[in-house]
Amino acid sequence: MTRRPWVIGVSGASGTPYARAVIGGLLDAGEPVDLVVSRAARLTLLDETGISFRDQHWAEDLSRWLDRDLAAADLRYWPAGDLGAGPASGSYLARGMVVVPASTAAVAGIAIGLSKDLLQRAADVTIKERRPLVVVPRETPYTRSTLRHLLELDEAGAVVLPASPAFYAGAKSVQQLVDFVAAKVLDVLGVPHSLITRWTGELGAAR
Ligand SMILES: Cc1cc2nc3c(=O)[nH]c(=O)nc-3n(C[C@H](O)[C@H](O)[C@H](O)COP(=O)(O)O)c2cc1C
Repeated sequence: MTRRPWVIGVSGASGTPYARAVIGGLLDAGEPVDLVVSRAARLTLLDETGISFRDQHWAEDLSRWLDRDLAAADLRYWPAGDLGAGPASGSYLARGMVVVPASTAAVAGIAIGLSKDLLQRAADVTIKERRPLVVVPRETPYTRSTLRHLLELDEAGAVVLPASPAFYAGAKSVQQLVDFVAAKVLDVLGVPHSLITRWTGELGAAR
């Protein structure tokens, strides 16, 4: 099997632009993507983009959201309620998974192995198979319970990568701040990109 996709789980935290940038970065690098969008993420998508995401018309809706022609993209979509989908099993050879953005509910569910939907089950599978898992939480402030769940994810081997853009890369737009977070995710996955100006060791160089 040559196709070893990255599973991207979009949960219902604010921050759909982060998911868009990560998916775009993977597709630009020619990486296969398997996408899962939680039920709650449909609300944040509607709120943040105006797009009503429909399982039956996912290709059309996704192409509008990502603003790209997906005909040539190696992208597979799995409904969040489909617990028989490929990524629900460890024998489905995914490379790893990113949950972006990660709601506190998704963080909790993954930390305790709840597997209440395909997104959480795929994350649990990623942990059990010792594959890379990146979780991008978006909430502020954090409750003590979320902090504990994040620590549990770290202990399980996941990389907790908060949606916390930095300003040293000389961002002049919101998109550049979004890209900063996506760049950190792609760096962890080892996927090449040119989303940001990297720190050179020289103060003010990116300005
Ligand atoms: C417009 C909107 C914005 C939300 N933003 C956040 C957020 O930033 N962080 C978060 O943890 N939950 C947020 N929520 C709440 C989650 O959607 C909710 O906890 C949901 O149960 C998450 O389910 P999921 O993890 O299955 O996607 C938001 C909900 C809505 C409707």
